[in-house]
Amino acid sequence: MSEAGRVYLEGVAGDGSIARRNRDDWDRWSIVPRVLRQVGPADARSEVLGILSSAPVWVAPVAAQGLGHPEAEVAVARAARAAGLPIVLSQAASRDAEDVAAAAGVYLQQIYLPEHRPAIEPFLDRVVAAGAAGVVLTVDQPASPHVHPFRLAAAAARPLVSPRRPPLPEGTPPAGALHVADIAWLAARTGLPVLVKGVLHPDDARAAVEAGAAGVVVSNHGGRQIGGSITSARALPAVAAAVAARAAVLTDSGIDDADDVFRAVALGADAVLIGRPVVRALWDGGEDAAAALLAELRDEFAHSLQLAGYEDVAALRRAGRGALRALDGPEQKEER
Ligand SMILES: Cc1cc2nc3c(=O)[nH]c(=O)nc-3n(C[C@H](O)[C@H](O)[C@H](O)COP(=O)(O)O)c2cc1C
Repeated sequence: MSEAGRVYLEGVAGDGSIARRNRDDWDRWSIVPRVLRQVGPADARSEVLGILSSAPVWVAPVAAQGLGHPEAEVAVARAARAAGLPIVLSQAASRDAEDVAAAAGVYLQQIYLPEHRPAIEPFLDRVVAAGAAGVVLTVDQPASPHVHPFRLAAAAARPLVSPRRPPLPEGTPPAGALHVADIAWLAARTGLPVLVKGVLHPDDARAAVEAGAAGVVVSNHGGRQIGGSITSARALPAVAAAVAARAAVLTDSGIDDADDVFRAVALGADAVLIGRPVVRALWDGGEDAAAALLAELRDEFAHSLQLAGYEDVAALRRAGRGALRALDGPEQKEER
């Protein structure tokens, strides 16, 4: 991975501490295994909004993967398909949605709505025609992004992109101010389930679901928006309590191994999204490394389920927080 690529991929907002907090806040939940339950090999498969996968793990939308690999998102789509996992493609991807959809098993499209909504309609038609299983509306970037160092690095690194059809006409500002009514508009325009990504407050989750969202993604965008943000591990339980009976709940930010997937499911997530680990693997080791990482995550999750005494994802969901114990500390008391 080039230095500019590394700065782009690993960049976070603020003083940098959010990267550590995103990981540590998952780790502070210990898994409490249950034994003597006659549990054989566990069934790790998951179904979310009719989307089947071999484990409750989806690949997160990460822009501009052509900065570090010529086949970029197409290679990741093949890796995800090999592991039996869905991929959510970034609107700012290096490769065409049609090519990624053709390479993927299950493909969903991430969307940033521009201020001028008609500018995106031709792209939405392409997404539907390409066979998307859903759209993921990212709502935590309502304005043009801050000038973080990683954005400068992205501009400095030369993307290895093939000729492509960009989602928006040249010069369209990337994101507009968003309103809950945009959710119903997007659902009606595409006829697809809409997942709202970047929700951290339970009231926002409720509002999104009442406005027609099929699901929400609890995410602080991998720490790239607000350095002092609450982490997903802390925000997830309240969001899940607010909407899990009515909508799908996914989460991301700082999830980097199978035990984190287990923790997220126990805290109320139907599935998780994995961002940086997949792109690191792709850029450092190519498609095979990305495929190996995803297959290992799937297999290790199944292993964790079995070792902890749960026969399948539904059993872990039923146990919920009872499958975990928070590490002691004054700030944890509020969540118990
Ligand atoms: C380099 C980079 C680019 C990203 N691009 C997008 C994007 O285009 N759209 C989006 O919704 N999220 C984007 N994200 C956020 C990811 O989808 C995801 O929320 C985040 O990376 C999760 O954290 P993790 O990297 O710790 O797994 C990006 C993240 C990174 C690191």
